[in-house]
Amino acid sequence: MKTYYFDNSATSSPKPEAVYSSVGIAVREYSANPGRAGHRKALEVARKIYEVREKIANFFGVRNSLNVAFTANATESLNFAIKGAIPEGAHVVTTNFEHNSVLRPLYYMRDEKDIKLTFINTYLDLEKAITPETKAVVMNHISNVNGTIQKIKEVGDICKKNGILFILDASQSAGYIDINMERDNIDILCLTGHKSLFGIQGIGVIALREGIKIEPILEGGTGSFSKLQRQPKEMPEMLEAGTLNTPGIISLGAGVDFIQEIGIENIKKHEDGLVLKFLEGLEQLEKVKVYKSFTENQAPVISINMDGVDSGDLSSILDEEFGILVRPGYHCAPLAHEAIGTYETGTVRFSFGFFNTEDEVDYLLQTLKNIALQI
Ligand SMILES: Cc1ncc(COP(=O)(O)O)c(C=O)c1O
Repeated sequence: MKTYYFDNSATSSPKPEAVYSSVGIAVREYSANPGRAGHRKALEVARKIYEVREKIANFFGVRNSLNVAFTANATESLNFAIKGAIPEGAHVVTTNFEHNSVLRPLYYMRDEKDIKLTFINTYLDLEKAITPETKAVVMNHISNVNGTIQKIKEVGDICKKNGILFILDASQSAGYIDINMERDNIDILCLTGHKSLFGIQGIGVIALREGIKIEPILEGGTGSFSKLQRQPKEMPEMLEAGTLNTPGIISLGAGVDFIQEIGIENIKKHEDGLVLKFLEGLEQLEKVKVYKSFTENQAPVISINMDGVDSGDLSSILDEEFGILVRPGYHCAPLAHEAIGTYETGTVRFSFGFFNTEDEVDYLLQTLKNIALQI
């Protein structure tokens, strides 16, 4: 059966051809361990990784590429940031739209390090939530439940004005919206490589603004400073304990090249067109409740529920009978469901990517219409 993939918030699929071939080349030709030996093959890999580090730094406006570290995913980056940079006892402002990869480290910090948490819905409520004890803001750029886009430049400016650390989870936005650490006043940028950046799974990034203090929570071999008892304080080694994921890093480089060839604004325009078409179509459907962004800007991630149908059942019908692949349930973001009123039911989530087409959205809308008529 032909399939229609609307689960790009979970991971982008398909990837650009150049990403597929980059992984083959990486496994075959860049197979030595970078930084673990001085021989020519190891040095070639180290150079390749350096190239991608520079590419990532340029893409996200990181002034010094040495402040970019490769991690396994956003979850690891966020654990590094939240547990390594937020001081004990601090007051922290965050949002109800956070993923568990933010919430769980924050709850750990609340329970073990006595931090106090204030939850807001959007950046518009940020200033009111700040107290003299506020030391950090941890915020999701785009909600993976309803596509709420937070204005990060406004958040960054408020944080800068108040001397507050700004940790951004850009997992859903990197590769879709232009992000610049310097311009947007982001102190720690955390992201995953396998969504809109088109990398393979198992690669993430943490980038620090110059001068940001962070304690490494993972320690181990770095291929350098071998006689040091403790983890080196130099970036990127400080946050890169253990052998790096060379194929993942190289795939991320190929993904960023692809985005730059197409132009990030063209990618956004295409995806925004799809989500607008979907929303307009949904408005014609009775029995469908739509959960949209809480701000004026909508990302290409929409949740719905259909009267009388469980979100899991609707997803199964879409998959089994129509080849439409979506995600039901809670999307690892429990507080978002309290905010939108779906804590008991979850939602069916549709997330569009660059390779989706208008024809696919027509098919999706027609299918939802037919299902709604039958129940
Ligand atoms: C907003 C958000 N943050 C963090 C993550 C975690 O990404 P990863 O599982 O790649 O660590 C996700 C993944 O779905 C996400 O949507």
